[in-house]
Amino acid sequence: MPEIRAIRENEIEWAAELFNNSFRIGMDVARGWTNNMALDETIAVVEPNRVASFVRMNKYRVRIGGGEMAMGGIGGVATWADCQGKGYAGKLMRESVRLMRERGDAVSALYPFSHRYYGKFGWASMGDRIVYKNAIQSDIICHEERAFVRWCRGEEDIARLNDAYMVYSSRFNGMALRSNATWAERLKQLSAEKGQAYLIEKDGACLGYFFCEHLPAQPRGYECVVRDFACNSQEAFRAMFGFLSTLPTNVAKISVSAPASLPLWDYYKEPFILMKWALPFQYRVVDVERAVAARGFLVDAKGKIAIKIEDSCGEWNNGVWEIEVSDGKGEARLNQNAKPDAEMSIQQFSKIFMGALDAPFLARQGFMPNILSATLAKINDIFRDYPVHLTDAF
Ligand SMILES: CC(C)(COP(=O)(O)OP(=O)(O)OC[C@H]1O[C@@H](n2cnc3c(N)ncnc32)[C@H](O)[C@@H]1OP(=O)(O)O)[C@@H](O)C(=O)NCCC(=O)NCCS
Repeated sequence: MPEIRAIRENEIEWAAELFNNSFRIGMDVARGWTNNMALDETIAVVEPNRVASFVRMNKYRVRIGGGEMAMGGIGGVATWADCQGKGYAGKLMRESVRLMRERGDAVSALYPFSHRYYGKFGWASMGDRIVYKNAIQSDIICHEERAFVRWCRGEEDIARLNDAYMVYSSRFNGMALRSNATWAERLKQLSAEKGQAYLIEKDGACLGYFFCEHLPAQPRGYECVVRDFACNSQEAFRAMFGFLSTLPTNVAKISVSAPASLPLWDYYKEPFILMKWALPFQYRVVDVERAVAARGFLVDAKGKIAIKIEDSCGEWNNGVWEIEVSDGKGEARLNQNAKPDAEMSIQQFSKIFMGALDAPFLARQGFMPNILSATLAKINDIFRDYPVHLTDAF
């Protein structure tokens, strides 16, 4: 019988073999994925001679509504090809929810290969993103603020990168805090893949940063992809786009991936850029009581609401929760005798909690039947503060 447990030191190579088999990435890349792996952040189905299925729960901290909480970032979900369809990964996903709660996580995020697959375990899709694809230099307005852009000198600029990131990420729900080690790893990865990082500075003040990744383009040259950026003023955006408008001609395409809540059309000459709308990640509330207590709320958000939640993977979340919010703080108390104002799944609650749902608007379109409009308005007043966003890695 296979065991379900964290992997051990002598099984790390087995995890790499599993990644190689299920993602077809070759052993070099697979071993890179297992580098510095914290064993207590893993859960696996272990057979006598291999790791048959695996899930990693990375530890992060995120801000939601201005409050900070522990987030479990799910990654490396994989099952050997000849073991798939036996329910192994499903078992591990359920177990991961229990383990994340046990170690103190309030929420969890992941980048799904299938929205429906992880939806079964309580994760809900959010964080709408627009990718402005395949522009060329002359599609972009050449603002003179491009002179504020300077090449990032690597690790010595980490404090500046982080300052800009902290300001930018405070306007969104769900962005992960980054340590010096995270920044160093990102910069290393970027330069290994021919990417470059830039800072935007004016009179000594840092207005933002952006990472340009350079991917091979067909039939020749490079595609410059900007996915990780923080622009904290209109000037900063003009600087970044002005810089992109003057990239050399061997850059054949320029793509920018941005939160949908932040329209960037003004930086292109005309609105004829190919645009892809993407739903890149999923979030889940792991522990309702802990998540509400750690979340920040707008100071004028005040109210009390009773929500009945159903969570098939986290029985501790089941029941009627009386949620009360005032003075920027919230509290959730389980009261099975309370009459609920609304009943919902953990997926729906997760979207509401993250501020991702405009409940009254959706109700008017017929998406949220059986909930009184006064309740929907209250949900918006309490939870709808910042849009949800995560860059392409935690
Ligand atoms: C995804 C994966 C981990 C599932 O592992 P598993 O142990 O077979 O998972 P389970 O047995 O719990 O579930 C199998 C379900 O996944 C579904 N599934 C598998 N691959 C899928 C895909 N590409 N798209 C949608 N669903 C998929 C199966 O249809 C099955 O659905 P069902 O439960 O409705 O019958 C495994 O297929 C895998 O390793 N894939 C390659 C690596 C990968 O993509 N990992 C996910 C990274 S986010």
